[in-house]
Parts: sequence; C-alpha cells; structure tokens
Amino acid sequence: MTQISHDRLLIIDFGSQVTQLIARRLRELNVYCEIHPYQNVTDTFLKTFAPKAVIFSGGPDSVVREGSPRPPKAVYDLGVPILGICYGQQVMMQDLGGKVEAGESHTAEFGRAYVTPGKERIDLLAGWFLEEREQVWMSHGDHVSKLAPGFEVYGTSPGAPFAITADLSRNFFAVQFHPEVHHTPNGATLYENFVRLAGFTGDWTMSAYRDEMVKAIREQVGDAKVICALSGGVDSSVAAALIHEAIGENLTCVFVDHGLLRLNEAEEVVGMFRDHMNLRVIHAQEQDLFLGELEGVSDPETKRKIIGRLFIDVFQKYADQIEGAEFLAQGTLYPDVIESVSFSGGPSVTIKSHHNVGGLPEKMGLKLVEPLRELFKDEVRALGRDLGLPASFIGRHPFPGPGLAIRCPGEITREKLEILRKADAVYIDQIRKHDLYDEIWQAFAAILPMRTVGVMGDGRTYDYALALRAVTSVDGMTADYYPFSHEFLSETSTRIINEVKGVNRVFYDCTSKPPGTIELE
Ligand code: XMP
Repeated sequence: MTQISHDRLLIIDFGSQVTQLIARRLRELNVYCEIHPYQNVTDTFLKTFAPKAVIFSGGPDSVVREGSPRPPKAVYDLGVPILGICYGQQVMMQDLGGKVEAGESHTAEFGRAYVTPGKERIDLLAGWFLEEREQVWMSHGDHVSKLAPGFEVYGTSPGAPFAITADLSRNFFAVQFHPEVHHTPNGATLYENFVRLAGFTGDWTMSAYRDEMVKAIREQVGDAKVICALSGGVDSSVAAALIHEAIGENLTCVFVDHGLLRLNEAEEVVGMFRDHMNLRVIHAQEQDLFLGELEGVSDPETKRKIIGRLFIDVFQKYADQIEGAEFLAQGTLYPDVIESVSFSGGPSVTIKSHHNVGGLPEKMGLKLVEPLRELFKDEVRALGRDLGLPASFIGRHPFPGPGLAIRCPGEITREKLEILRKADAVYIDQIRKHDLYDEIWQAFAAILPMRTVGVMGDGRTYDYALALRAVTSVDGMTADYYPFSHEFLSETSTRIINEVKGVNRVFYDCTSKPPGTIELE
C-alpha cells in the first residue's frame, strides 16, 4: 500500500476489461483511487485502506455460479457509499438479499442501450436525463430479477428493468451498465455525482503529489546514492527530474548510447538534463559495442535479446563506478503495477521481448525507488510539466528501448542506420509542419531489407525502400494506422527521396494492430 494521505476511493476489481477506465475517470476528478483484485481485499485490508467510498467493478464471471468472486461482507458495514457496476451490481444484489438470474439469450444485452428515468431524480443522477433518455453501454448475460430490500429503481432500459438502482438510506448504488466507457457519453457525470455525495474534495492534484513524493523519496533514500537509467522517454525523464528535486547531487543518471538512437537524440537528452536541469548524467558511449555484437544478426528476437543483455552489462559497468549506490530509480507506472497483480492474466504469449532493466536490482543488490507507481501516463506528463520539463519533450512519441534496431528489419549496418536517421527526421519534420504530431501516438520511418530500381534525372538508381508508419492509439496495446492525406504522403515521399541519399522508394504502412504490431520487429 502507498503512503498517499489523500481521501481514498477503493475499486474492487472483479476482472472487467475496463476497470482501469474507472480509475481514469476518478483521477480526472482529482480523486485518489486504487484498484485491488477482490482476492486481496480482506477485512484487515479494508481497515488499513480506510476508503471513503468503494466501487465494485464489472467482471466476466456469473454470480449465479458457486464460488464466483465476492467482496468481503465487511465492506457493507463500513458505512461508506458503494457503487456497483454490472457484475458489481449483481454481487451487491445477491449479497444483500436480492436475486440474480442466469442469462438467457433473450435477456442478455451487449452494446448500446437507452435508459429512461424512474419516478424520482436522485443526487447520483444530477445532470442526467436532461434529454428524455441517456445512451449507455451494456454488457451482461445475467440480470437482477429481484431487488435487495431497501433498493428502488431509478432508471430502466428495455432489456434491463433494473438499470439504475439505489438504497438511499445507505448510499448504495448499483447500475447495470458501464458508465466508465466512452459509449456512455454522460458517464463521467455519474462518477462526479458519486464522489461528491461521498464527500471527496478533489484534493488529488499533481503539485500536491509532487510535494508529497519529494518528502517520501527523502524519507526512503536518506543520504544514500540513487542511480537511474535515463532513456530519454517521458517516464524515466520525469522520474529522474522528481528524484533530483528530492535529493539533488545524490542522483546519477546513466544514458546508454547504443548507436541506435534518432538524429541528435543523445545530444538533446544529455544536453537538456545535464546543462539545462543540472543533473549528473553519464553519457555512456557504447555504440561500437552494440553495433559490433549486432553485426550480421537479422533475427528480430536475437537482436532484442542481444540489446537487452548488453544494456544490463553496460548499465552495471557504469553503476559500479558510483560509490555507495543503494537504490535504482525506475519509471514504473500504475498500469504496469496493476497488470502485474492481475488475477485474470494467465501466461500470455511472448510476442516481443521488451527490453528493460528487469532483474538488475536483485543482481546488483539495489533497492527500488519508483516514484511514479501511482500515476497514469497523462498524469506523468502533467507532473513533468509541473517540474519544468519542456512541453515539446513531454509530448514526444514513445521510442522503444532497442531503438532503430527494430526499425531496420534484417541485418543492421551503419550505412542503413545513417539513412534511416535522416529519413526519419524529414518524416517527423513533415508531421510537425502539418501540425499532426500531437494527433498521432507514434510515427517513425523504417528501412526495408531490400533495394529497388528507380530513375532519377536520366540515371538508373538501385537504392533502399523505406516504410513510413504512423498510428493512433490509447495505450499502444491496439492501434489504427493514421489516415494521412494523399497530398501529405506524396509531399513527404518526394522530400525524403530528394533529401536523403540512398532511398528511392517510399511505402506507407496501412496495417492496424492487431494484426500488425506498431514496430516492424
Ligand atoms: P509493438 O511493436 O509491440 O509496440 O506494437 C507497442 C509499443 O511498445 C513500444 N515498444 C517497446 N518499448 N522496449 C520499449 O521500451 C521495447 O523493447 C519495445 N518494443 C516495442 C513500441 O514503440 C510501441 O509504442
């Protein structure tokens, strides 16, 4: 559990795919909340966590099934407001004396539905039903067939006579639909009403978090030294800036230059942190080591494994030079934390080995400092701005640890990397000029392992083909390719071929994820 001293809301997770979105909606309302899987929520946990309100998430199971997930009974005796969503509604009804019936095809409801109001407008529904009906997103097989004593109906849909229910004497609310998803357009209002009636003051702001974390880091670390692998990505950069504010000179960052960075990237990152923000930064120039070991290697997984292994070796080599280092800083975010405790997450297939410094802390006997563990990505960005990192830096597209290696399918050569760096810079320049950078989650060029024939002036060319990729995404898990205009594509293609020697053909990758991945390897 964290050291956060704000009013807390507890989300008990029953395994819905969209539980994280509930947390997002609440954080947007400046309410501090944590998601905990139902198995971890014991009576003792409830006492220590001391939530000011509780939300039961949805979930894939059926409450009618024996042994299906339940919260501890004590949750109903806390005397705090509870909101049950979908499976959470059914759990609440069954626990409190109502009835739930197993789904049959004619009562199951998936997708868009319309709820109309009951007789009375309760506080939870302030701002709702300004029009005759509200669009909501349903996703249920089972349904409540008898309300628990004390509950009344305040909204119905054709397929869900108990769409919105509440026991006002106890401030227990239970809805059949998902207010957290985009397809319930007025859902955020419902959460806002819920936290307001629960007495939250919206005390969770980034500058309050910054002050609290600075104190917490000082307490955790004392006078010890901390090292941080700075990648130039947003997470490690914000973590470094925050820790630097807390302990100054006792933080040393190591920026590993593997020769697979974008044009001017090393200078920009090191320049900003060392010269502009006064951090101690070691610029590890290890291009020869990495490119040497990658020579002749064309298998994507082998490339990733080599880079991951070398990265750890190199980081360790430089970290060993820092006397008295006891802590390793990591930019772990809240979604990583939730994922790692997910109870539904069985063994999943390794699509790509992600490169990180996993395993390092144990190997080197270091303890971890993870000051972003409670934050979502956009909160990290807000914190970064609060810490004075330039907006252009904070809004940068993600860049993978293995860098250009995975944008150069087949064998990596210095010549190809040089061409790729230049072409990528032109492409990104085009995107910025057309004011599209912030609309796109990630854009990059990749150099393909083939040469094609072309004609330039009067001469024949035989040069590399380049693929351009641009995607929109929320979290990188799924993605759509970006629909550039024909004008943009032809202008960009012309510029790249004219300005970058060694390229005579440009393709645009119009594959979504799935079935493609964002990177080419
Ligand atoms: P894929 O290619 O798997 O990428 O669709 C999803 C997101 O993750 C980034 N990515 C990585 N990031 N180390 C990282 O730090 C890696 O090894 C790595 N591989 C992919 C990718 O750029 C995209 O944003």
